[in-house]
Amino acid sequence: METTATTIITLAERPDLVDAAQYLADAAWPEFMMHDRLVNRYWMRLYEEFPEYQFVLMDDQSERVLAMGNTVPLACADDVSSLPDGGVDWILTEAFEKSTASAHDGHCQFALQIVVDPGLRGRALSGAAVRAMIAIGKQQDCASLYAPVRPNQKHLYPLTPMERYIEWTNDDGLPFDAWMRVHARLGARTLGVCHESMRIEGTVGQWEDWIGMRLPDSGEYVIPLALVPIRIDRHRDEGLYIEPNVWMQHSLD
Ligand SMILES: CC(C)(COP(=O)(O)OP(=O)(O)OC[C@H]1O[C@@H](n2cnc3c(N)ncnc32)[C@H](O)[C@@H]1OP(=O)(O)O)[C@@H](O)C(=O)NCCC(=O)NCCS
Repeated sequence: METTATTIITLAERPDLVDAAQYLADAAWPEFMMHDRLVNRYWMRLYEEFPEYQFVLMDDQSERVLAMGNTVPLACADDVSSLPDGGVDWILTEAFEKSTASAHDGHCQFALQIVVDPGLRGRALSGAAVRAMIAIGKQQDCASLYAPVRPNQKHLYPLTPMERYIEWTNDDGLPFDAWMRVHARLGARTLGVCHESMRIEGTVGQWEDWIGMRLPDSGEYVIPLALVPIRIDRHRDEGLYIEPNVWMQHSLD
């Protein structure tokens, strides 16, 4: 498909596009990623309570939704070293479990995800989606955009500590990781690892269903598309995946 001009549309302007946006998001992730308890508890409230911070990128000619993104407003970090070890789960907890003051007084924008239509990947749309996110933050007078970035090639190196992985660079000095590189090219700086961005728990049987693999012993397993190994405890009938992400900051001044 030839892409023509695109328009950023918030879901406050077009609530009828929530289903199209969510359809893209739901199709983007491996099954096990759909079982973070906090994400499942709060996600749809993003569209009800913060629709002006949710958006799609639409192709003007075809009116096809090319990409989508989710963010929320929160109080700015006092200083960046005070950003937590949590990421996605922490953002949702701050937005929906703390006093509303936290969400509504704050004037920083916190990213939750960007998804490009799978049929349109590799066409540089991800940069346009980050620019759209930044434009929305600026429109809302946010001082910074903080993103717990999920490095999209880390799953190929599940045994490498995230601290080390995010230091890998290419010859031009930009991050080795493609998704971090998109943010870096648009001016983001890397702040550090958030070790517990998402937490996904299930019984051993659930994990076997989610990933289509038998898990006969207790211990660690490398599984497809996870950034680090999962831990299985057969005695307690538990499996746990704690996903680390990387805090990156775009200044919106
Ligand atoms: C991550 C994602 C947003 C990237 O979108 P995209 O439109 O395919 O990416 P782009 O075409 O803009 O390319 C961005 C960079 O990634 C690189 N890239 C794209 N596809 C790649 C692949 N399969 N393997 C390695 N690098 C890849 C591109 O070369 C480019 O880097 P460069 O310009 O330095 O060469 C998209 O793959 C996606 O929606 N993934 C599922 C959800 C997700 O992981 N979102 C991000 C975390 S919330």
